[in-house]
Amino acid sequence: MADIAPVRLAAPPAVSVVVPTRNEAENVRPLVEQLREALGATPAEIVFVDDSDDDTPATVTALSERDPDGVRLVHRAVGERTGGLGGAVAAGLAAARAPWVVVMDGDLQHPPETVPALLAAGRRNRADAVVASRYRTPGRVDGLSGGFRRLVSRASGTLAKVFFPRRLRAVTDPMSGFFAVRREAVDLGALRPRGYKILLEVVVRSRMARVDEVPYTFRPRAAGESKASFREGVRYLRHLSLLRLAATRHPVSPLGRMTGFALAGGAGTAVNSAALWALGEVAGLPYLLAGFLAVQVAIVWNFAVIDNLVMPPGEHARHRRFGRFLLLNNSLTPVHLGLLFGLVQWGGLHYLPANLVAIVVVFTLRYAVTSRWVYGA
Ligand code: GDD
Ligand code: MN
Repeated sequence: MADIAPVRLAAPPAVSVVVPTRNEAENVRPLVEQLREALGATPAEIVFVDDSDDDTPATVTALSERDPDGVRLVHRAVGERTGGLGGAVAAGLAAARAPWVVVMDGDLQHPPETVPALLAAGRRNRADAVVASRYRTPGRVDGLSGGFRRLVSRASGTLAKVFFPRRLRAVTDPMSGFFAVRREAVDLGALRPRGYKILLEVVVRSRMARVDEVPYTFRPRAAGESKASFREGVRYLRHLSLLRLAATRHPVSPLGRMTGFALAGGAGTAVNSAALWALGEVAGLPYLLAGFLAVQVAIVWNFAVIDNLVMPPGEHARHRRFGRFLLLNNSLTPVHLGLLFGLVQWGGLHYLPANLVAIVVVFTLRYAVTSRWVYGA
């Protein structure tokens, strides 16, 4: 008679470590060893979510055969790799079984020794998430090779904080790929990951109330190479504006919208001047033509800001919104000049105060017509 296989009654793990991997064959084994060492007796599972074309899945499978509860592999076939790095992390969060989930890279740039500190901070402070930060002392950015990447990292983080000042108040490293979350605090159904910045996605879309941090030093890569690229940078900007839009869809008050209009318009005058300079001085166009084109550039700028960040999209398709916006804004210049003329000619005002009145009237008109006619709000 054949042996009956023993039933494994594995206790549910206390911690799931989710590791996204793409071509990290040489790194996974040392990572598993170092994680085990760091976690000691804590019952933990390590879930690799893999999009590799190299030996990574085979290496993980070999580790998993020896320890099926401790090491798991979610391999995504070529057609299933949606959302890149962020999509892989979201899949890992969905597969995780423990109440706390640690997300970290598979290339040993995130030190496994920091994992216990992340978990301890989460439990001690009753946080929903704990971010491992390179920018909180004594954390360091050793692994960011070169001044340029450091600058990009800082600038992207600052931008995220400008977009989400309240939600990221306690976060010095919003770009971190190393963090712990309470699984129940994550709204999995709300996630729309795109690319690298999964922490932002999780914190913003799940509306997490309490986010804490612990410092760590980002180490140089153990082996292989970074998959970050210029394309990921562009993807990040799009990601950020989509996040902002989703977060503002309902609650933006009319006052907030008006402020958004005013800020976009204010910055638009700088865009207009820069475009005028480039078209006039560099391209050598006649100044009236350059002036007309510079206005169009500023209108495009205004539309991009307002459409992505300020207004909920409403019922019209984007190209229709853009068409109406362009038409409306081009018609407002004659209105402005007509008003100025009327106030001076028949209102007896000096043209400088008259112009201020015209600015206020046209601004209000522009806001009202854009809200109704372009966005149907
Ligand atoms: N599954 C999957 N799919 N994994 C991916 C993908 C993908 O498309 N792209 C990258 N990875 C994995 C890598 O194999 C690695 O384990 C991890 O995600 C990080 O990728 P790197 O290419 O090494 O990124 P980095 O070192 O430049 O930047 C990382 O660390 C920064 C600091 O925490 C990222 O996590 C950044 O988001 C983070 O700011
Ligand atoms: Mn890396």
